[in-house]
Amino acid sequence: MMDWTDRHCRYFHRLLSPHALLYTEMVTAPAVIHGDRARLLGFDPAEQPVALQLGGSDTGELAAAARIGAELGYIEINLNVGCPSDRVQSGRFGACLMREPALVGDCVEAMRDAVAHTRAAVTVKCRIGVDDQDEYAGLAEFVDKVHACGCNVFIVHARKAWLQGLSPKENREVPPLNYERVYRLKREHPQLAIIINGGVTSAAETREHLRHVDGVMLGRTAYHEPYRLAEIDADLFGTSLPDRDEVLARLHPYIEAHLARGDRLQHISRHILGLYQGLPGARAYRRVLSERAHCADAGWEVVEQALAARRGELRSRAA
Ligand SMILES: Cc1cc2nc3c(=O)[nH]c(=O)nc-3n(C[C@H](O)[C@H](O)[C@H](O)COP(=O)(O)O)c2cc1C
Repeated sequence: MMDWTDRHCRYFHRLLSPHALLYTEMVTAPAVIHGDRARLLGFDPAEQPVALQLGGSDTGELAAAARIGAELGYIEINLNVGCPSDRVQSGRFGACLMREPALVGDCVEAMRDAVAHTRAAVTVKCRIGVDDQDEYAGLAEFVDKVHACGCNVFIVHARKAWLQGLSPKENREVPPLNYERVYRLKREHPQLAIIINGGVTSAAETREHLRHVDGVMLGRTAYHEPYRLAEIDADLFGTSLPDRDEVLARLHPYIEAHLARGDRLQHISRHILGLYQGLPGARAYRRVLSERAHCADAGWEVVEQALAARRGELRSRAA
C-alpha cells in the first residue's frame, strides 16, 4: 500500500503470518528501471514469499521491470489495474485500464515472456469495474481477455472505482462492496485462481470467503491491526497464536541491524503501532512509540519504554 507499507512492514508481518503471500506497494515500471533499486526493491529473504506490484501500461517498460523484479527473487509480478488516483490515470495505468483489456493482455504477455526464465508468476489486481461498468459482463470480458494472454490469477477488489469525482480514499469506501460478483467470477471460471479483496477484517470472514474463492487479500486491517494476520494464519493452518511480546523480541535483532545501517527507528516502528490494538494498554504503548521514535538517536530502548508504559497502564487498571 503506497505510503504505508515497505520492506520493514513486510518483515514484521512475516513474523505474524508465516504463510501469507506479501505484496509490495505499487512501484511504477519506470521507477523500477531508472530508480534506486536497492531502496525501491530491496527485501530481506525472510520476507518471502513476496510479490512485486508494478504500475504501468507500456509493454516494453513493464517487461523490463518484471524481469528486474523476477531476477531479484520476487516470486510473483502483479500488475495494478485497480488504483484510481489522478496521478495514475494521467499515466494511463491503474484502474482506468479496466477499460482496456486488450492492452492489459498485451502487458501480461510481455511480462510473462520477460520472466519466463524465472519461477515468477504474472498476476493482475483489478476492480469489479469502473464508472458505469455495473454489470458482471464487463468484469468477465476483462478477465477472459487477460486470461487469454496468459494470466491465471486475478486479485479482485470487490468494488468498482469512479475515475472522476472521488478521491482514492473515497474510492476505497464509497462504492459498495459486491462480493457476489467475485464469487460468480470464480464459479464461471473454475480454472482461474480468484483472490477476493475489500473490507475483510477477521478470520471468520476469511473462512467464509474461502468457501467461494481461492484466496483472500487484506489491506487496511492488516496494516492497522496487524495481529489479525496472526489470527487468520493460525486459524487457517491450525497453529498456535504467537505471543505479541515475543514477536517484538524477534523483531529486535532486525531493528538493531537496520539502525546500525543508518535507518531511523521511526521508519520501522510506525508499522508496529497497532500490534496491541484492542488490548488494554495499547494506547500507552502507541503514545510512547509515536512521541519518541522520531528522535534521530532513538533506538530499541524506545520500544522497551513503550512496552513498559503498556504494562504500567495494565497495572494501574488492575489496581
Ligand atoms: C494507503 C493505501 C495505499 C494503497 N496502495 C495500494 C497499492 O499500492 N496497490 C494496490 O493494489 N492497492 C493499494 N491500496 C488498496 C488496497 O490494496 C486494497 O485494495 C483496498 O484498501 C481494499 O482492501 P481493504 O478493505 O482490505 O483495505 C492501497 C490502500 C491504501 C489505504
